Amino acid sequence: MCLYTNLNKQTNKNMKQRKNFIDLNENPYDLFNKWYLKAKLNEINDPNAMNISTISKGVKPSSRIVLMKSYDKTGFVFYTNLESHKGKDIKFNNKVALNFYWKSILKQIRIEGTASLIDDEIADKYFDTRQEISKIGAWASSQSSKLNNRKDLEMKIVEYKKKFKNKRIPRPSFWSGFKIKPVLFEFWQDIEFRLHDRVEFRILKNKWKSRRLFP
Ligand SMILES: Cc1cc2nc3c(=O)[nH]c(=O)nc-3n(C[C@H](O)[C@H](O)[C@H](O)COP(=O)(O)O)c2cc1C
Repeated sequence: MCLYTNLNKQTNKNMKQRKNFIDLNENPYDLFNKWYLKAKLNEINDPNAMNISTISKGVKPSSRIVLMKSYDKTGFVFYTNLESHKGKDIKFNNKVALNFYWKSILKQIRIEGTASLIDDEIADKYFDTRQEISKIGAWASSQSSKLNNRKDLEMKIVEYKKKFKNKRIPRPSFWSGFKIKPVLFEFWQDIEFRLHDRVEFRILKNKWKSRRLFP
């Protein structure tokens, strides 16, 4: 009983102190931007790392981390091998889920949406900015296929280095970017005693509708 009263007092105090509960009137892209800028200042590694979940032909879900390379109000872009597990999944079903979690600021953003291939010119432009060895890596790695021996990868790297010696390395046709256009965002922030703050934004008739969720 005593512990309970104490907890309640602490909770009330904490809630009063915390002035930054998520505003239901925010635009989700602007809120993403605010949190991402904060994460960039605090996260030790890869604040742009996001989990992407896909669904296979056999309706089996899978997820992995990728790096979000750009974002704006049209969506979130990452690059990958189109013949990879995720690449094949997206070809079959372009509905995906993203998740950013920033431990340093105790915030999570979930996104659901549809993935589509970006234009070749945009992918080419990005590919040109990559370091030479990363470009060679994109050619040499049959991402997600069986690698019998690490040596096989090393040999392929040597082979492609030779092939492109003193030449501009073009983007492989099997390597590009996907842009995820959100239909749902959920912003989550840690509050003491696991009484977290969650707000969902869902697109309805081209307008974002928001609602607060129980933690
Ligand atoms: C921090 C981090 C960043 C990564 N970034 C990418 C990326 O941008 N693109 C990519 O294809 N794989 C990236 N990976 C590797 C993927 O997690 C995954 O192993 C790979 O894409 C193969 O996944 P799949 O077999 O499900 O297609 C990254 C992994 C980590 C841990």
